[in-house]
Amino acid sequence: MFTAGPVACYPEVLKAMGMQMVSHRSAEYKGLHVATVALLQKLLETQNEVFLFSSTGSGFMEASVRNCVHKKMLVCVSGAFGERFAEVGVSNGKQVETVESTLGEPVTPDMLDEKLSKTKGVEAVCITHNETSIGLINPLQKLAEVAKSHGKLVLVDAVSSMGGTRIDVDRWGLDVCFSSSQKCFGVPPGLSMGSVSAEALKKSETAQNKGWYFDFKVWEKHQKKKGTPVTSVIPQISGLYTILQIIESKGGKQWFFDLYAQRNSRIREGVRKLGLTMFPRAGFESPTVNCVNSPEGVDGVAVYEAMRNLRFELAKGYGSVQNSTFRIGNMGYIEMETIDDMLKSLEYVINKLAMGTQ
Ligand SMILES: Cc1ncc(COP(=O)(O)O)c(C=O)c1O
Repeated sequence: MFTAGPVACYPEVLKAMGMQMVSHRSAEYKGLHVATVALLQKLLETQNEVFLFSSTGSGFMEASVRNCVHKKMLVCVSGAFGERFAEVGVSNGKQVETVESTLGEPVTPDMLDEKLSKTKGVEAVCITHNETSIGLINPLQKLAEVAKSHGKLVLVDAVSSMGGTRIDVDRWGLDVCFSSSQKCFGVPPGLSMGSVSAEALKKSETAQNKGWYFDFKVWEKHQKKKGTPVTSVIPQISGLYTILQIIESKGGKQWFFDLYAQRNSRIREGVRKLGLTMFPRAGFESPTVNCVNSPEGVDGVAVYEAMRNLRFELAKGYGSVQNSTFRIGNMGYIEMETIDDMLKSLEYVINKLAMGTQ
């Protein structure tokens, strides 16, 4: 599977998830909870609280808005998931300003700086780290630096980057940084995990109508008791703990980031050898999802379908570039040899489809 998520899971993860259930109030669960949180804090270089939500990543996105924005937020939009962040703001009754890049381009620190200088009353800046829809990575550290220089909270959607590339939460000043289980961690969907700073928790204290399910203060209270306010998604947490332990046993997070980088460059190099180009601006290509321009006259969806017939599941292009691109993810459980096999099939498919256009 070379999807944009859910992805194939490590066999060890699937095995761990088959465990018999324990109560989410038991000593066994508390041990698992504390150990998983500690490993996530290590991965994210943070002393902040890390919550384990029984929801997908969009739940954590909603939580970040409800807890950290009283009135007004600014969203950096470079694709469909930035648009979703803005939509979540509007649907929760917030005033939403946006700073938007041309499709395929990142939001730059200068664009953000200019917008913040002109816009009054913004409390939080929302950033999509890795825009899965078009395989583009935004310059998160620099964007966060700009937001912080204006005294704003920084809310980060790291759904398709956490685990796949470095994120230093404390050093970069990220107030909320969340992800989903079904992406780089290679765990089935249903769990989201995110760090929440002391400043974000303080903001939450006076947030009105933030609901109960995603109230950071309620989660903080239960975190002190080594658990969650609602029933935890225990199988997913066991799976996450397992992959985090595997990472530790291989020497730590750099090993995992390097593995992602190796897979990613193998795919990109292979694609380049086929004479294909990447959709995002050079230098901002995602380390986890490759968005490839389909050759002239070849429909991206046809590439996706033909690859599927050869038993390789890629991802279709997204939105307005659906027919002109296709995506090749490198998240989850993928062996290097499988990448080579996939590239051979892609060569066959591209040649065949290109012939059909002549
Ligand atoms: C960048 C990004 N943000 C948010 C989401 C939504 O995550 P979820 O489906 O876990 O709610 C996705 C899912 O693909 C994503 O790629």
